Amino acid sequence: MRNFITIEGCDGVGKTYQTKLLRQYCEEHGLDVVFTREPGGSDIAEQIRKIILDANNSAMDDLCEAFLYAASRIQHLKDIVKPALSAGKVVICDRYVHSSYVYQGLGRGLGLDKIVQLNDIAVGDFMPQFTVFLDLSPQDAFLRKGGADKSDRMEAAEYDFHIKVYQGYKSLIARNPQQFEVIDASGTKENTQRQLREVLIRRGVLR
Ligand code: TYD
Repeated sequence: MRNFITIEGCDGVGKTYQTKLLRQYCEEHGLDVVFTREPGGSDIAEQIRKIILDANNSAMDDLCEAFLYAASRIQHLKDIVKPALSAGKVVICDRYVHSSYVYQGLGRGLGLDKIVQLNDIAVGDFMPQFTVFLDLSPQDAFLRKGGADKSDRMEAAEYDFHIKVYQGYKSLIARNPQQFEVIDASGTKENTQRQLREVLIRRGVLR
């Protein structure tokens, strides 16, 4: 889908911070870009997000989790993404189906095929124009951040889980390289931001 860009990466890579800087850049340059995120991003979807990430919900079944992410995605597309694209805006979304593929399909071990199928039902062929992957291993990400946030049910998951997620992204990228723009996020924050802007300008999304 033209003008629909998604950003992916492991927990702790600094996606939220990078998106914030990018948003400031767009505001300063008068660029009408909608920034949003998953899970959540709209009223109903944010309510689903609370259930998913609540640290008290540690008994949540993995398949239930996968359906909740997909449910949040459907609502968010309807409420935020599709209207903004129809109005001619660029939409930059923090996480999308690729997160489900790697976190639920590979991290939780539900299987990639099953999660692809589930998301096909949820979003059909509504795929991003391209996906930026902020490349930093969980080892480096948590080291830099000083550990995982235990109040976030996903971030608190076992270390092995995050390794599987990272390897999952790598294998998705190897299988479908034309979908991804990979950015080395191991340098300074400024360096990552510069690369991010360069990619978006080169791909004609930003000026
Ligand atoms: P969030 O606090 O937004 O983390 P981040 O800033 O790293 O994006 O929490 C989102 C969490 O949900 C994150 O651990 C990744 C996970 N997630 C999935 O497991 N599957 C999904 O489909 C999505 C969108 C996110």
